[in-house]
Amino acid sequence: MTLFIVGGAGYIGSHMVKLAHLAGHEVITLDNLSTGHRDAVLYGAFEYCDIQDANRLNELFKKYTPDAVMHFSAYSLVGESMSDPYKYYNNNTVGTLNLLKAMIDNDCKNFIFSSTAAVFGNPEYIPIDEKHPKAPINPYGKSKLMIEQMLEDFDTAYGLKYVVFRYFNAAGHDESGKLTERHDPETHLLPLIMQTVRGEREAISIYGNDYDTKDGTCVRDYIHVNDLSRVHLQGVEYLMGGDADSKVYNLGNGEGFSVKEIIEKVKEITGKEFKVIEDDRRAGDPATLIASSQRAKKELGFAPEVDKIDDIIKTLT
Ligand SMILES: NC(=O)c1ccc[n+]([C@@H]2O[C@H](COP(=O)([O-])OP(=O)(O)OC[C@H]3O[C@@H](n4cnc5c(N)ncnc54)[C@H](O)[C@@H]3O)[C@@H](O)[C@H]2O)c1
Repeated sequence: MTLFIVGGAGYIGSHMVKLAHLAGHEVITLDNLSTGHRDAVLYGAFEYCDIQDANRLNELFKKYTPDAVMHFSAYSLVGESMSDPYKYYNNNTVGTLNLLKAMIDNDCKNFIFSSTAAVFGNPEYIPIDEKHPKAPINPYGKSKLMIEQMLEDFDTAYGLKYVVFRYFNAAGHDESGKLTERHDPETHLLPLIMQTVRGEREAISIYGNDYDTKDGTCVRDYIHVNDLSRVHLQGVEYLMGGDADSKVYNLGNGEGFSVKEIIEKVKEITGKEFKVIEDDRRAGDPATLIASSQRAKKELGFAPEVDKIDDIIKTLT
């Protein structure tokens, strides 16, 4: 298959590029390098492209005639989306609308989309399955839910087929050590803890210790980035198998770990002590987010290989 990997220079996209290449597909990364890194694209062609640029998209669709598009590009900082919603609706929602238009115009009708647990907002029950009500509490989650809604209409009207994957917390690195998580600013817990372990930051902050959870700190579900990439390939193979219906899947490991538990596990695994600061809650953080991935397991054969939190952490050391 010829695959466009949009956002392939980012954390998850760069792992996807590697896996798709090793699986024998022709991969072409489209990225504007706004948060990604050119040196993270280790395989296939790289094309500088901003998805807001319709002419450039059309040029690239004509040049490569891809079978499917895997769309990882987005801004994804929840706090920033609260203070600058325009940036999120414009890059995520308008940008994706533009990408979908280029797909339809160029008769490419297979789409894999990176959505997020943020479309659910505060959970009404745990684990969160696909039928859980969608009530995002920040513009980032809303910008992604709007795309999910657009996709339903694009399927009905233009026959665009899609698989939406809603990730909970992507974590870990590729075993080569060549691909890492390099967000700036970094907001994800595990890379922040690892920066503290390496002495690159003075302390790790816990935001809120009075949540209704086992130890008062937020509980999250971590999924290894290579397991995410593997199920994306299963998703694109499903779409290309012919006569496929569009699908939506939640992806996690179905187990929750509190911030304090993760910190203790990193201390145990690395044998390093570091400073921990207990800070105030951040706006927009639900107490607990745990996924039910039963549908992906049953229908796509999703079978995480790095499913123990200790093993996920070890890929970071
Ligand atoms: N990391 C997580 O835990 C997580 C969880 C849920 C959902 N997601 C979603 O997964 C996707 C990938 O996340 P990530 O952590 O790898 O992010 P990332 O910031 O590392 O990667 C995003 C990539 O998209 C590119 N990009 C952004 N805007 C673009 C544009 N207009 N045109 C072209 N390229 C553009 C960036 O340069 C970057 O390379 C995002 O859509 C994110 O919302 C991530």
